[in-house]
Amino acid sequence: MAKKTFQIAIDGPVGAGKSTVAKLVAERLQILYVDTGAMYRAVALYMKRNGVSWEDEEAISQRLSELTITLSRPVDDQVDGRNVTVTLNGEDVSWEIRKADMGEGASVVSQYQAVRKKLVSLQQQLATNISVIMEGRDIGTKVLPKAQTKIYLDAGVQERARRKLEQSVKLGHGITFEAAVKDVETRDAREMGRKIDPLRPAEGAWMLNTTGLSITQVVDRIVERVSGEL
Ligand code: DC
Repeated sequence: MAKKTFQIAIDGPVGAGKSTVAKLVAERLQILYVDTGAMYRAVALYMKRNGVSWEDEEAISQRLSELTITLSRPVDDQVDGRNVTVTLNGEDVSWEIRKADMGEGASVVSQYQAVRKKLVSLQQQLATNISVIMEGRDIGTKVLPKAQTKIYLDAGVQERARRKLEQSVKLGHGITFEAAVKDVETRDAREMGRKIDPLRPAEGAWMLNTTGLSITQVVDRIVERVSGEL
């Protein structure tokens, strides 16, 4: 008998801990982890490299057909602290898309219809006939509306800014706490306020506030709950 597949959709704002948590839950449950933000980052990187402004929706929409993006589990020499291996037209860009300005670029280009259309379709293909945990901003609402488990991960602005700051220090970019707070607020406003697929909890989503919780506590809670639903 074919094994039943299942989908876990995690949404939430920047700094809520989605990537770290989703990757660990995927390891515990032995399922595929899909980081959809990485795809929007790859689009931002490609446009920047080709001198296309992130504000130029028309040019970006036209040039999307030039991009092939893949996501895979890191293997061999790729096991270097990354959560996922991302290729852009065959080149490994896993670290380059993590640079601070790529988060901002991804947040801008992800507002455009053509970009969302292409990436949502790619994400849906990835989740066909396979168990996945997918995280982003519109997973429960748009990409996988039939997911068995939908989670909205959240945390206070100060806490999310603190995490972002920690992350950027690890990546070697120095920003101030004030700049991190401002960045979180700007991205929240853009992603919750955009016309297409704005960030919001999916209907019936489990609202999980991670303020004050450790990563292990969040992962344990999710695994416990999901195991009960399988
Ligand atoms: O999760 P992240 O910071 O890597 O995502 C980068 C940007 O991509 C985020 O600011 C908004 C956008 N994004 C989106 O619009 N929809 C998704 N499903 C995932 C990310």
